[in-house]
Amino acid sequence: MSAEIFAKVQQLIEEIEAAKPATKEEVEQFRVRFLGSKNIIKPLFGEIVKVENTRKKEYGQLCNTAKTTAEAKFAALQEWLEAQADAADSMAIDLTAPADPFPVGSRHPVSIVMNRIVDIFARIGFTVVEGPEVETDWYNFTAMNTPEDHPARDMQDTFYIQNSKTWLLRTHTSPVQARVMERTKPPIRIIAPGRVYRNETISARSHAQFHQVEGLYIDENVSFADLKQTLMFFAQEMFGSAKIRLRPSFFPFTEPSAEMDVWLGTDTPENARLTKGTGWLEILGCGMVDPQVLENCGIDSKKYTGFAFGMGIERQALRLFSIPDIRFLFESDVRFLKQFAAAI
Ligand code: PHE
Repeated sequence: MSAEIFAKVQQLIEEIEAAKPATKEEVEQFRVRFLGSKNIIKPLFGEIVKVENTRKKEYGQLCNTAKTTAEAKFAALQEWLEAQADAADSMAIDLTAPADPFPVGSRHPVSIVMNRIVDIFARIGFTVVEGPEVETDWYNFTAMNTPEDHPARDMQDTFYIQNSKTWLLRTHTSPVQARVMERTKPPIRIIAPGRVYRNETISARSHAQFHQVEGLYIDENVSFADLKQTLMFFAQEMFGSAKIRLRPSFFPFTEPSAEMDVWLGTDTPENARLTKGTGWLEILGCGMVDPQVLENCGIDSKKYTGFAFGMGIERQALRLFSIPDIRFLFESDVRFLKQFAAAI
């Protein structure tokens, strides 16, 4: 009797060892048959009651062997299945396919306009320089011939650093002129883009931070006609219109000084609105560098003359992209910024 019971278990162990499930489904069938809640090994343990006492221990061990053999085999089968799935995955990867595109950012509208301006002047021999945004009173005002009592120095307009009288956030890019003149022998032909700050109430039309591009040209015999020609070239390239007008103006660091308007006309409602019905759009301030400024910066004003100009970027960006509010430019809202992906 016992021998028969032993043989049954032995046979089962052989069956387990010989099993060759070849698919996921067959592995599952193997698990259900040998390790599931109604597996066929379990009832064999119960048969122990029929085994004679002297062989009960041996029988118990044999049943355990059946169980552990099934467990070990199932673990191996599972590993094999996983390896197969991995292999299938790697076969599915086409290594020659182009990589997934990842989102690239877009240029900021201010950068787009600034780059265009810089490119135009680079084509006629201007090189780009930059200056610090935290400036001294000397470079921002004094060297630029802005006297001590000039209203521009008023605390209303200028951010001074921690109530210092010396350090401030530059209110224009003109201090870069002084820095360059101080360290460079003419001829000088530079363009200086950068951020500037003014203590102003923030609104749809004005902001406490904005950007300017400064230009400076110093050499022997530089005349107002050279300035005018340069500005006409710029207007043609930037706005597609070389029709400009120079209105007399005042800046402490240029003499004579002017403001340049470009003719856009009133043909489209957009141009009519931008030019407030006049057809003229105000673009920049300019003039011949005041001899006093040249002297302040160590350049012989008897030998050299020059012109300078400075323009704001934001207004041009608002116009170019029909942006209704300057604050959009400083809020870093991606929903706004990503609209410029197509612009260069
Ligand atoms: N710095 C002047 C401004 O901030 C612009 C300017 C630059 C005017 C150079 C003349 C020459 O408005």
